[in-house]
Amino acid sequence: MRILVIGGGGREHALVWKLSQSARVTKIFCVPGSAAIAELAECVAINPEQIESLADFAAQEKIALTVVGPELPLTLGIVDLFESRGLRIFGPNKAAAQLEGSKAFSKDILRANAIPTAAFGTFTDAVSAKQFLAQQKSPYVIKADGLAAGKGVLICATLAEAEAAIDEFLVRKAFGAAGDKVVIEEYLDGEEASFMVLTDGDHVLPLASSQDHKRVFDNDEGPNTGGMGAYSPAPVVTPEVHERVLREVLAPLLNGLQQKNIRYRGLLYVGLMITKAGPKVIEFNARFGDPECQPIMMRLKSDLLPLLEATIDGQLNQVEAEWYADPAVCVVLTAAGYPGAYDKGKEIHGLEKLASWQQGCVFHAGTAKENHRWLTAGGRVLGVTARGKSVADAVTEVYRAVGEISWAGMHYRKDIARRALPNS
Ligand code: AMP
Ligand code: GLY
Repeated sequence: MRILVIGGGGREHALVWKLSQSARVTKIFCVPGSAAIAELAECVAINPEQIESLADFAAQEKIALTVVGPELPLTLGIVDLFESRGLRIFGPNKAAAQLEGSKAFSKDILRANAIPTAAFGTFTDAVSAKQFLAQQKSPYVIKADGLAAGKGVLICATLAEAEAAIDEFLVRKAFGAAGDKVVIEEYLDGEEASFMVLTDGDHVLPLASSQDHKRVFDNDEGPNTGGMGAYSPAPVVTPEVHERVLREVLAPLLNGLQQKNIRYRGLLYVGLMITKAGPKVIEFNARFGDPECQPIMMRLKSDLLPLLEATIDGQLNQVEAEWYADPAVCVVLTAAGYPGAYDKGKEIHGLEKLASWQQGCVFHAGTAKENHRWLTAGGRVLGVTARGKSVADAVTEVYRAVGEISWAGMHYRKDIARRALPNS
């Protein structure tokens, strides 16, 4: 079976790595892929936003299944386009992908279906936004409505900062059209968790739980990033929390979407805050989390392919996912300066020492290869991911591997998975 994976980051490297182990997969193409993905798949230089060109490519190459990694092609309607052309594709259609594409849309669905989430208001003009702010308490949470590459959320300690943020979004248009509308919401206190499920619109198959580390520095300090590391499972997702998310979030959500004639078919990522009052939704994503996808693929024992097919075919009640009990931990190595401006083209040393690493895998998020040398080519560069008998073992192993790798300005957090260790 010929597969096309869209994207070229660490998430797609992990997906290609997992799919390449399926006995039914004969060939994988990846658009645009990366030098590292090229070791497992044929990479093709098409812009993932050119969805017409992608459909032409899939038809021409007789692709049996396309798997979409990032959110942008989904919100552009790649799934609707492929389906209209009779091409099989994994991911939610344009209407369903609004759960990620518009925070105002997702907050409205949450409210209409009484799903636990932060109280909020939605605004298009600065005057009413500021009036609403004046009635809220610090810290203030302000979000651009549309996609802003993970940078559209500001948490402000003072009212003055929050008002300045409103001006940035609504007056100075710092996020362009994505910030034409802002959501101001209540600050939620607690521990975050990523709850990813496959859903065909009727049935839900939860994947292993995980936890991301969003801030750039240890102890959750510094600005938010795309994710500095992740581990699975997340102990904060207890069996009770798991049941509550299924009952209080997913069941009413799918029901609410159906009432709007929207059928969500694909991977649904529920970003949760586990508060004293229970799990509350922070956000939805319409695709696998990155880096969470990396430890999760490492823990998935089952073949991924039949799970994706069952999602498309509305048969998720007929499949099961088997997991390795061993926890997995991923440490993201970033370029100096990330998530701000960062430099590229630094030579990466030591990858050859991990070429036959048994307990883990180095997924590439932003690298390039030049004359047999690996160079940095992104803010997030590598996701070093290991499995261990315990979280402590996985942590020891992953940091041992990280110790083999170096480049000028390499940065990483030293406290990934610390919360999951006993006595922490
Ligand atoms: P989002 O893009 O909505 O996931 O927000 C990015 C990050 O901002 C989240 O992962 C949280 O760490 C933080 N965040 C967002 N909304 C809230 C909230 N209402 N209360 C506290 N933290 C939040
Ligand atoms: N790691 C968070 C995300 O993928 O949005």
